[in-house]
Amino acid sequence: MPAPRLGILTAGGDCAGLNAVIRGIVCAAARRNIEVVGFTEGYEGLLHPASTRILTPAGTRGIESTGGTVLGSTNKGRFQLRRGPGGESILSDALVRAARQALDQNRVDALIVMGGDGSLRTALQLSRAGLRVIGVPKTIDNDLDSTDVTFGFDTAVARVAGAVENLRSTAESHRRLLVLEVMGRHTGWLALHGGVAGGADIILLPEIPFDGDLLTKFVRELERRGQRSLVAVVAEGSRAKTGRQIRRQTSTGDSRLGGIGNYVESLVASRTGRETRTCSLGHLQRGGAPTAFDRVLGQQFGVRAVELAGDGMFGRMVSYRFGSVTDVALADAVNRRRVISPDTQMLRHARALGIFLGD
Ligand code: F6P
Repeated sequence: MPAPRLGILTAGGDCAGLNAVIRGIVCAAARRNIEVVGFTEGYEGLLHPASTRILTPAGTRGIESTGGTVLGSTNKGRFQLRRGPGGESILSDALVRAARQALDQNRVDALIVMGGDGSLRTALQLSRAGLRVIGVPKTIDNDLDSTDVTFGFDTAVARVAGAVENLRSTAESHRRLLVLEVMGRHTGWLALHGGVAGGADIILLPEIPFDGDLLTKFVRELERRGQRSLVAVVAEGSRAKTGRQIRRQTSTGDSRLGGIGNYVESLVASRTGRETRTCSLGHLQRGGAPTAFDRVLGQQFGVRAVELAGDGMFGRMVSYRFGSVTDVALADAVNRRRVISPDTQMLRHARALGIFLGD
């Protein structure tokens, strides 16, 4: 009888810690005599089932400390959900058939998907169609409900904090206000944690549309108190109370959040005369080696995913709750965004530290 086989893939935008999850899966599977087959380029790999890689403990040694994903990923391509008649997300029968064929062709018994909200919604559809699927939550935005933290977030926070520190020294030399635009999509977790960790004076979040008058007043007040420089961390999804989110077209024609940092720069500079510059941290937040926390969490998530497969617990997503690794139903985990609320403890603490939060 052939050994049982797990298929794995990494889908959507990458983040630090994906390779740690892969390593965790491969090692935990090997101890149970389970083979691991990696599909490359995200879900696209299911449409090219010949381009798979057998992953072994020896072949993946050391990858837990590296950035990116050794399997490649894509958030474009043909394997996309579409809207059903009632506005719900559905996966065409043809794509479900293709996925089933790819798994059969590679003798795969169950599929582990590492992805963010969109990719896990696709995983849920595959699970509802009868495939044995397990989800592992991944995103620097940390916006997935049903898990207190996703791997990749801690690394991105460290990148933001480091950037704030670097900006502080040059801002101080030139008596400037420096604006740092960071990722996070429609939530401000990354801006909030990165800004607090780096010692920012101002943090603007999507959850709190900012008041331009109060922002200007705050800058003037710090100036009056003799503070030479200011650093503002601005989440890409934030907006002025009187405005809307700002988007830009990428070179391939996609629309992405971006540009609010420049808006804040012009607003403050025109109203206060303060020399201001903007820097967008961009994909530096996603790339590079994961922090120790993300290496540990990633490997733990990988081990848990294999345990779920071993116990036949399909349609589940690995999760981190109250300090331990656990699991939840995929159906409960997707479609619900985790946002910052007025009771979020970190928000209260940031206010207590004297950080201006837009209101
Ligand atoms: O969801 C992760 C994320 O990095 C967001 O924070 C950001 O808005 C988006 O992906 C960027 O996507 P892309 O890499 O496709 O430009």
